[in-house]
Amino acid sequence: MEAKAIPLLTPYTMGRFDLSHRVVHAPLTRSRCYNNLPGEHVALYYSQRASKAGLLIAEATGVSQTAQGYPNAPGIWTKEQVEAWKQVVDAVHRKGGVFFCQIWHVGRASTYDYQPNGQAPVSCTDKQIMPQVLKDGTVEEFSTPRRLREDEIPQIVSDFQLAARNCMEAGFDGVEIHCAFGYLIEQFMKDSVNDRTDKYGGNMENRCRFALEVIQAAINEMGADRVGVRLSPYSNCLDCWDSDPDALGLYMIDAMNKLGILYCSMVEPEVIKVDGKVQIPYKLLHFRKDFAGTFIVAGGYNREEGNKAVSEGYTDLVAYGKWFLANPDLPKRFELNAPLNKYDRSTFYTPDPVVGYTDYPFLDLSSV
Ligand SMILES: Cc1cc2nc3c(=O)[nH]c(=O)nc-3n(C[C@H](O)[C@H](O)[C@H](O)COP(=O)(O)O)c2cc1C
Repeated sequence: MEAKAIPLLTPYTMGRFDLSHRVVHAPLTRSRCYNNLPGEHVALYYSQRASKAGLLIAEATGVSQTAQGYPNAPGIWTKEQVEAWKQVVDAVHRKGGVFFCQIWHVGRASTYDYQPNGQAPVSCTDKQIMPQVLKDGTVEEFSTPRRLREDEIPQIVSDFQLAARNCMEAGFDGVEIHCAFGYLIEQFMKDSVNDRTDKYGGNMENRCRFALEVIQAAINEMGADRVGVRLSPYSNCLDCWDSDPDALGLYMIDAMNKLGILYCSMVEPEVIKVDGKVQIPYKLLHFRKDFAGTFIVAGGYNREEGNKAVSEGYTDLVAYGKWFLANPDLPKRFELNAPLNKYDRSTFYTPDPVVGYTDYPFLDLSSV
């Protein structure tokens, strides 16, 4: 098979980062960081997927003890966690990769078991998430949250700031603020959840205030040219949706432009199949047009749709989730148009440090 310069494999300059291609590792929770610490197997996972000047975004990483809500998810609020991340970052950098850490707080998507002293998870509201039926049929339940008092919110903002500082200390090249999928920041942003009457609730400006304070805090630590933001205005995960997602997305983009944010990563609301082939109907085009920085899309992309989206100027970069977790050498496989390993959903979140994690095979280059 002969290598061709396909659009996904062309270089792209993202601010201070000269990327050699446009195939990004999407943030992927893998539930393998025992005691919230990324171990050697995590370093191996990311280094397998690192390529020279390729962008990887690490899985959602908690900014504090109250930020946690899922088994074996990493954190970056203690010295021990920072030390653990250093070996992961070093492993990626040794391969020449550019590595961002996604920082999050789950808010009400948690249970008493994860919270300090078994206290209630915190949120902008005291409304509980309804039990969620997952793809495998299991039901996920969450505890009743406690509404944060207005005077407690600066502490959460400063937890994000400390996490950003810790990311820099661990050697990450930047952070991605997780403002998507129904977690704490989105709980504040969207009007199906936010029922506050103070300056953090009500109109769009108030609902986005917390997000923008967090983003500003990260900027204060590392500069806007190292801060990316993930948004999913159209999603309704965890009972979190907005009555006007277009206005919400555009409001955030306008604010992020003023702050000079490095990149905006957005999740496609719709993927369709025509004659059995995946098609992305470019529902994010108006956001892409308005955003001044680097635009990253994710959700349902394959090689063909990724190439098309880049060549038509719909996006700068494409983040791949499921295909990247199953194909450590995804950019190489795209370059060679080689077959892909299938992903195994049953091991997405299992705790084994090898199976379904670092044991997906590389392409046998002698056979291509
Ligand atoms: C196993 C798994 C874990 C995920 N974890 C995260 C996460 O930690 N943070 C996040 O923003 N998105 C997460 N996502 C969403 C992905 O980043 C991505 O947007 C999604 O998988 C769609 O892209 P794909 O069709 O290429 O897989 C996760 C998805 C999967 C499948």
